[in-house]
Amino acid sequence: MAYTVPKLADYSAEALDKAVAKLLSALETEAAAVASESDWNTFRDRWLARKNGILTLVNDLWLKAAPKDAKREVGQRVNEVKARVEERVAGVKPERVVSYTGSGASVIPKLAVAATGTSGPRVIIEERPLDITLPGIRRPMGAEHPVIKTMNEIVSVFRNLGYSVEEGPEIETDYYNFEALNFPPNHPARDTQDTIFIAGQESKPLRDRLLLRTHTSPVQIRTMEKQRPPVRVVCPGKVHRNDAPDATHSPIFHQVEGLAVDTNITFCDLKGTLDHAMKALFGSSVKTRFYPSFFPFTEPSADVQISCIFCGGKGTRDGGPCRNCKASGWIELLGCGMVDPNVYRFVNYDSKKISGFAFGMGVERIAILKYGVDDIQLFFQGDVRFLEQFG
Ligand code: DAH
Repeated sequence: MAYTVPKLADYSAEALDKAVAKLLSALETEAAAVASESDWNTFRDRWLARKNGILTLVNDLWLKAAPKDAKREVGQRVNEVKARVEERVAGVKPERVVSYTGSGASVIPKLAVAATGTSGPRVIIEERPLDITLPGIRRPMGAEHPVIKTMNEIVSVFRNLGYSVEEGPEIETDYYNFEALNFPPNHPARDTQDTIFIAGQESKPLRDRLLLRTHTSPVQIRTMEKQRPPVRVVCPGKVHRNDAPDATHSPIFHQVEGLAVDTNITFCDLKGTLDHAMKALFGSSVKTRFYPSFFPFTEPSADVQISCIFCGGKGTRDGGPCRNCKASGWIELLGCGMVDPNVYRFVNYDSKKISGFAFGMGVERIAILKYGVDDIQLFFQGDVRFLEQFG
């Protein structure tokens, strides 16, 4: 006979004990009989339904009907009963687990319940046919962005030569970006780098005003302020210029800066180092050429050109002029020079005792050449079809 909630004629402690014991034993028996999801639904509704559920009846028939002086005692019992019932209902809720069996559509899905003791949660094993002809789940591999990949490659060429790595802030002061690099205030050399200034700085002295760094060269100064010679560092990072985007320009791009300061460093060391680096990056048949140039922080200064990797330096390709090097056989790649003694004054290095060289290269420019990319914008558009080619 299924359990029904009795009315209580007697509210003594013994009578209450007996009634509660009977109810709990019915609860245990019914909980143990739950063998499927639908059993559980019925079990839950029978005990917890608002309307006519056993707990509701207990409330009505025991608590509400109790005489005033028994209410306290009965209330306490009813609360205990309520907690036990809720705990049992939650405890036997079956957990659904999908198991794939057999193959082909002829296997009919069925539910099986694996009882895992009366107290722990039960597991409903839903058997589903396994169709091995379904396509698998594709998990595309991530890939390093070509700019980062190239930047890491450049850095590792110099790490192998014993250089360490330094980084500096992207928001710089006028002092580090220009003044200490021997670009005096109002000097026309500043016009070569279209600068994005942070607004509202007019009340500060010029040297403290903030801007987005236009090159990684300020890290040279920050490094020399921190350490005495010998110095051998490369400084990779993001730089900003107020340039309109087109196939060869982007307002954001990346550079790797280099600086070596020691006793007796000569232009020969600079040439040998960069010649080695270009061969490591583009292949051992590449030649380098140093072309006179100007940078305020180096004297003498040079642009480094490499023999055109598309026409092998010949200037002609497929019977016509090579477009990549404008038929010159050379491609300009980076700036460099011997550190100008004026720069050492800003960091208290003694230019009579030491000398050094510096260089700076654009990472996108090198990536464009290495990978044959024809538009710098592709690096910044985030198109997966482009990026996945570097995976
Ligand atoms: N900072 C220069 C630029 O962005 C590049 C450069 C040239 C860096 C010569 C150097 C250097 O360290 O020696 O145009």
